[in-house]
Amino acid sequence: MTKRRTPFTVFFALIFLAAAAASGSAHQFPAGAEKLAKSEECSGCHAAIYTEWTASMHANSSPFKDNAHNAVRLKFAASLKQMGKTPSYHCANCHTPMADNIADLMSGKAQPDSDNWTHTEGTGCSFCHRIESIVPGKEFNQYVLNKDGSFYSSNPSGKAPHKTAKSALFSSGEVCMGCHSHMRNSKGAPICVMDEEGASNCLTCHMPEAEGSPAAGSEKKTHFSHALPGGHDIDMLRKAVSLDMSVDTSAKPLKVAVTLKNISAHTFPSTMPMRLAFLKLTAEDSSGRVVWTNIKESPMEDMQSVLVKMFKAGEEKGVAPWKAEAVAMDTRLKKGEERKLSYTVPSDNIKTVSVSLIYRLFAPPAMKMMGIPADGKNDKVYMVIKKKVDL
Ligand code: HEC
Ligand code: HEC
Ligand code: HEC
Ligand code: HEC
Ligand code: HEC
Repeated sequence: MTKRRTPFTVFFALIFLAAAAASGSAHQFPAGAEKLAKSEECSGCHAAIYTEWTASMHANSSPFKDNAHNAVRLKFAASLKQMGKTPSYHCANCHTPMADNIADLMSGKAQPDSDNWTHTEGTGCSFCHRIESIVPGKEFNQYVLNKDGSFYSSNPSGKAPHKTAKSALFSSGEVCMGCHSHMRNSKGAPICVMDEEGASNCLTCHMPEAEGSPAAGSEKKTHFSHALPGGHDIDMLRKAVSLDMSVDTSAKPLKVAVTLKNISAHTFPSTMPMRLAFLKLTAEDSSGRVVWTNIKESPMEDMQSVLVKMFKAGEEKGVAPWKAEAVAMDTRLKKGEERKLSYTVPSDNIKTVSVSLIYRLFAPPAMKMMGIPADGKNDKVYMVIKKKVDL
């Protein structure tokens, strides 16, 4: 993992200098451009990469494969209808970028169709590898794809049986920033702002080298992993934060100090605003009975332990992203942030104090508001880190 990877900040500077509005309402293909290939066509020769991609959220981002995304887009459509507007699917820009009628999906002239493979594919191989440049936009960015169908990489081997070309966008995370840079709603509220919250090379953490050749017949023994893990992956979550706890037993009541440090390169949780993380502390007596806890039912009982972002419209807090006028609160751990929390544990007879960092893809109130199915995946409770001190 030592080759490639140029600094990233230059790119952000460029984007903001350019500050141009996104043109049109969809990714741009030059006139006469090659059609996008189905990812399955790459599977025969790029088996390891194809298998990783198939299980990734990039292959599963469409409304037909991600039921959480589908629930939210239906709520969004219903809300547009209520306001007398045409239900549109601008989500297509990032969730079904390969759609052959993407402009119509984004304007509401067409709806997602499960029988059209370009609507079910998500972000496929040929989409990413044909990215030629990024068009900066106010609400979100877009891409320009190449005309001749060459597959870009930072350092082509020259051994592929198909057209390849060299692109500097692929030597860092720049190539990701058509979709992952930012999303502001029509009122300008910052729904996701990765461009402001993190700024280092995404590939070093998200596409590490993995065992196995990148292609049948290649001389290389490793390839860059296309599993692209994030919040759905417990191993990745464990790389996001460090957690320490100490208990001052000379104090009565006990004083418990917890230190959280963000060791990822961006906000934690990042960046999707429905994510939630919180600390649950318990104190147990010698028989293992819990005699004290900071949270009985909802993490909101102890706001210092909660890492979350929430929007507001007027006086109303916790509104849907598309209604948001501003951020109501953002207690997530910033890039590089170290946060010290202290708790007073008002009880004698304590034998152990435990702390857990718990993560949820969707905060329960958000699941309810959006109608996100509790299917064991969306409502999974991730035990990220647990620490215990015996007194
Ligand atoms: C007939 C086999 C075959 C098919 C099908 C195929 N590739 Fe390749 N591809 C290769 C080989 C061989 C290499 C060179 C790998 C090496 O030597 O490291 C390669 C390299 C690449 C590279 C890296 C550029 C380079 O030269 O190192 C990319 C990107 C790529 N392929 C994308 C794709 C995509 C996307 C598809 C499907 C649309 C696809 N390939 C289909 C065989 C194939
Ligand atoms: C065409 C748009 C697009 C591009 C390009 C793209 N992504 Fe994504 N990415 C998405 C979408 C959409 C999701 C969320 C899918 C979902 O959860 O339904 C996602 C999800 C992810 C996740 C989270 C997975 C999880 O478990 O929640 C990571 C990490 C990620 N992308 C990293 C990257 C990196 C790194 C790059 C560049 C190499 C990249 N993405 C390029 C659209 C894109
Ligand atoms: C500018 C690109 C972009 C647009 C437009 C976009 N999304 Fe996303 N979406 C993403 C990315 C990137 C992720 C993954 C980021 C992350 O997990 O932090 C994501 C993740 C999600 C998730 C979490 C999915 C999961 O299973 O964890 C939901 C739900 C979602 N988006 C809904 C929507 C809806 C509904 C729309 C349209 C109203 C939309 N998004 C528009 C880029 C986009
Ligand atoms: C989210 C964007 C994205 C998607 C989707 C994607 N790739 Fe890649 N791919 C990359 C990036 C970034 C690299 C690292 C490129 C570099 O350093 O040049 C890469 C590298 C590669 C390489 C060179 C690997 C190596 O280690 O030498 C091949 C081959 C490749 N991809 C094939 C594929 C195939 C096949 C698929 C679909 C199954 C696919 N990619 C899907 C972004 C993507
Ligand atoms: C130092 C390592 C590191 C770097 C560099 C890094 N990330 Fe991450 N990223 C992580 C870790 C660890 C997580 C899991 C924790 C989380 O979900 O917040 C993560 C999670 C994510 C997620 C998933 C969030 C979700 O809600 O599921 C996305 C999307 C993402 N990163 C995108 C990016 C992008 C884009 C870049 C480049 C601008 C980047 N990351 C750079 C370590 C890194």
